Amino acid sequence: MSLRIRDIVVGEKDVTMLDLVSIIAHALSIRKEEVFAGYEREVCRKEASRIERLLKSRREGTPLAYILKEKEFFSEAFFVDERVLIPRPETETLVEGALKIIRARKGPLLLLDMGTGPGTIGLTIAKKTRHNVICVDISPDALCVAKKNALLLDVSDSASLVCSDLFSAIQKSTKFDLILANLPYIPSEEWNALMRDVRDFEPEIALNGGEGGVEIYRRFIDDLPHYLKRNGHVLCEIGGATQAVNIQKALGCSGFEAEIKLDLSGKERVIIGSWINLS
Ligand SMILES: C[S@@+](CC[C@H](N)C(=O)[O-])C[C@H]1O[C@@H](n2cnc3c(N)ncnc32)[C@H](O)[C@@H]1O
Repeated sequence: MSLRIRDIVVGEKDVTMLDLVSIIAHALSIRKEEVFAGYEREVCRKEASRIERLLKSRREGTPLAYILKEKEFFSEAFFVDERVLIPRPETETLVEGALKIIRARKGPLLLLDMGTGPGTIGLTIAKKTRHNVICVDISPDALCVAKKNALLLDVSDSASLVCSDLFSAIQKSTKFDLILANLPYIPSEEWNALMRDVRDFEPEIALNGGEGGVEIYRRFIDDLPHYLKRNGHVLCEIGGATQAVNIQKALGCSGFEAEIKLDLSGKERVIIGSWINLS
């Protein structure tokens, strides 16, 4: 018996309409609008089993971005899979803050993206500004994904990828104009209460920030002064009110004045640090 797109849509009870349409479009290599326009289109057995395999994966909780192998961030399509954190819309707040600082400055700048994952922040900024960006991650797997995205976004000439535990593989003589960081900040105490989509599918190394969610950030801030130019800035994405205050204090102790920026939902999301201690 022949199967139409309509039959698949009507028969699906668990996957949301939005995800269902994306999955059908992906499996048939058509645009989402064509799913609705082609409701009466028949799908062959091979196509039907491909769609069913992807729907099963979604029903089991796999995030849609991992199924589609793609996530849009700052109007760019990033390749993503289980090796990396899926870019989040709130991270655009950090990118916007960075672009504002970059555009107010003259001359070529050297930037660092700490904890680059799929290259979300660093490659977006390389694409928008063509300044040189060093993208660092502790995970070789994440850097494989970032390399693929550097090619996709056509920024391989301005973005370099470095595998390093924070600054350990970066020479102390290298000084950056801007250091951007979205390091893991979920408190380990909250790990078990995380949404299943996140906890069971995204890499723990990308999320678990240790006690209070600030352990990795504390280590990062300890080394930060060695790598930043004197008129440089640091921008960190953070996850909540107490973290904002704790990281602001840690930056203060290292000689920075730190300002907190809210995201579009009104949450403390980004800390911008500027040197005050120029002695
Ligand atoms: C929250 S994800 C951010 C990914 C990406 N920058 C974004 O904004 O979507 C944190 C990233 O930091 C990396 N990471 C964790 N610990 C690290 C460390 N000690 N040194 C460098 N990178 C680290 C993880 O592998 C992960 O890719």
